[in-house]
Amino acid sequence: MIDLCGVRLRNPLVLASGIWGSCAGTLVRVGRAGAGAVTAKSCSLEPRSGHPNPTVLDWGGGLINAVGLANPGADAQAEMLRTARAGLAPQGVPLIASVFGHTRHEFVEAVRRIVSADPDLIELNISCPNVEAEFGRPFALDAMAAAGVTEAVRAVYAGPLLVKLSPNAPDIASVARAVAAAGASGITAVNTLGPGMVIDVRARRPILSNRVGGISGPAMLPVAVRCVYDIAAAVDLPILGTGGVTTGEDALQMIMAGATAVGIGSALYREGPAAFGRILHELETLMQGEGYASLDAVRGCAHG
Ligand SMILES: Cc1cc2nc3c(=O)[nH]c(=O)nc-3n(C[C@H](O)[C@H](O)[C@H](O)COP(=O)(O)O)c2cc1C
Repeated sequence: MIDLCGVRLRNPLVLASGIWGSCAGTLVRVGRAGAGAVTAKSCSLEPRSGHPNPTVLDWGGGLINAVGLANPGADAQAEMLRTARAGLAPQGVPLIASVFGHTRHEFVEAVRRIVSADPDLIELNISCPNVEAEFGRPFALDAMAAAGVTEAVRAVYAGPLLVKLSPNAPDIASVARAVAAAGASGITAVNTLGPGMVIDVRARRPILSNRVGGISGPAMLPVAVRCVYDIAAAVDLPILGTGGVTTGEDALQMIMAGATAVGIGSALYREGPAAFGRILHELETLMQGEGYASLDAVRGCAHG
C-alpha cells in the first residue's frame, strides 16, 4: 500500500488529470483496469467550452494538446464526481478532484462546490494563465502567486491538498517550497511542457487550432524526472511524479527521484486503461529482477 497525503493507494500508479477523466464511467473503468487512484479532468467555477478541434495530436514523441480546459463547471462536476466516487469506493480506488481558476477567488469558490462531492483528495491545477498577474502568467511560474492560491484554498478546505506545478518554472524548487509553506499536503509534478508547436508542412500552418499546446508523453520524461528530483531535494512532502511515464522503468525513475506515487496520462491515449496493468506488471518484474525489496527501499535513492 502507498500513503499519498494520508490516503491509501493499493499501488503507486495514478491516472493524471485530463485523460479519461471527464466522466464517471471512464474514471470507474480506469479504476477497474488497475489504477491506484484516479484524477478527474480539471474544472473551473463556470463551464468552459475549450478550444475548437483539433485539440490533441500524437506527433510521434508524445502528445501536444490545447484542449482549453473544457469542463462543465464546478456544480455539474460535483455531480459527476459523486457518481464516480460511488463506483470507485467499492473498488478501494481513491478519487482526486482537480480544480483551476484564473483568480484566487475562482479557485476558492470552485473548491467549495467540489468539496460537496467528498473527493479523497483535491489537486489544484495552478498551471493555467492567471489574470491576477501581468500578461496572464500561470500561478505556477511564480512562488508568491502559487503560495497565494494555496493559502486561499487552505482557508476553506482542510483535507488532503495536492498542488500541481509546471515544468516551465525557472526554479521549481522555490515554487515547491512556497506552496509547502502555504499548506499543501503534497505536490503533483508536473503539468505539460512548453508550449510547443507542430506544423503541417502541406497545409503550411500549425496543426492545433490554438496553434500552440502543451507537450506530454515520452518526450518530456527526463524533464519531469528532473523536476521531481529538484522538488524532493527541496521539500519534505509526498510527490505525485507525472510526465512521460509509459513503462515500469519510467515509473521506477520517478520513485528513485523521490516520488511517492506516479501519474500516468498520455500513455492511455494509444493503449487505453490497459496501460495500468502493463506498467504495474513491468514495475513489479523490474523490482524483482533487480532484487529491490520494496518501493520504500528505493524511493529517493538517486539522491545518493
Ligand atoms: C489531452 C490532455 C489534457 C490534459 N488536461 C489536463 C487538465 O485538465 N488538468 C491538468 O492538471 N492537467 C492536464 N493535462 C496534463 C496531464 O495531467 C499531465 O500532467 C501531463 O500530460 C504529463 O503527463 P503524461 O506525459 O503522462 O501525459 C492534460 C494532458 C493532456 C495530454
